[in-house]
Amino acid sequence: MTDKKPIISMRGIVKRFGGVVALNDVDLDAYAGEVLAIVGDNGAGKSTLIKILTGVYQPTEGAIKLDDQPLEMSSHADAIDVGIDAVYQTLALADHLDPAANMFLGSELTKKVLGITLLDNKKMRSETERVLMERLGVRLRSLDAQTDSLSGGQRQAVAIARAVYNTNLRVLVMDEPTAALGPQETARTLKLIKALKEQGLAVILISHSLDDVFEVADRVHVQRRGQNVGVVKTAESSTQEVLGMIVGAKEDAA
Ligand SMILES: Nc1ncnc2c1ncn2[C@@H]1O[C@H](COP(=O)(O)OP(=O)(O)O)[C@@H](O)[C@H]1O
Ligand SMILES: [Mg+2]
Repeated sequence: MTDKKPIISMRGIVKRFGGVVALNDVDLDAYAGEVLAIVGDNGAGKSTLIKILTGVYQPTEGAIKLDDQPLEMSSHADAIDVGIDAVYQTLALADHLDPAANMFLGSELTKKVLGITLLDNKKMRSETERVLMERLGVRLRSLDAQTDSLSGGQRQAVAIARAVYNTNLRVLVMDEPTAALGPQETARTLKLIKALKEQGLAVILISHSLDDVFEVADRVHVQRRGQNVGVVKTAESSTQEVLGMIVGAKEDAA
């Protein structure tokens, strides 16, 4: 942890969907230069919590602060504007387009030739190459290939590159980034997460793999049945302890 003050602080977050209480009075702090993992069983409220942080859902109760200032968001676009973005497990990439087209989807770079606005494909490619290399240490074998011919890890890199191309980006949320990856690709993705942390981003990682969590995360926020049942530092905890918190071992024993 490099900073003492959190970039993000969520307090007393409640989210109800009709009669379902998805989140019940949850607090969360995220710091620059830190990886915070969020773990918990299915239905524990992980995705709902990060959807609130990324502006997709609005909390029923509770407040979010960014740099100690109240933050109100009514859409994901609002979150992106203040430097908060997410990369989801089901990557929203267009398979039939090449990586550069994906990276600039919806915000294509253009150039004017004889007064006519044209796509600047060359610039989009060089920028894609640059961001992948400089920020993520990734070099694609071919920038011509359709995105669906890339490996899972490379697709992940393109999706992350798209998020970090926003020079504003300060908080990156990743929901199960390694779920669909083999061991080699998982190792690469974890390396990439470490690189983003070194660059001073606050990275929030949702994962079912406690091995991954203990490899990259500084702290672990444990969700259970809509509540936060504790936050531990990986350096001072173990997979066994966290697993016990996830399943509520202490509670059951009491
Ligand atoms: N859009 C929704 N409408 C109704 N219930 C929801 C909705 N999203 C999540 N829930 C419920 O909220 C709880 C938490 O879900 P979720 O945040 O997806 O958990 P997790 O990501 O930890 O598996 C679950 O009981 C789930 O069924
Ligand atoms: Mg989920």
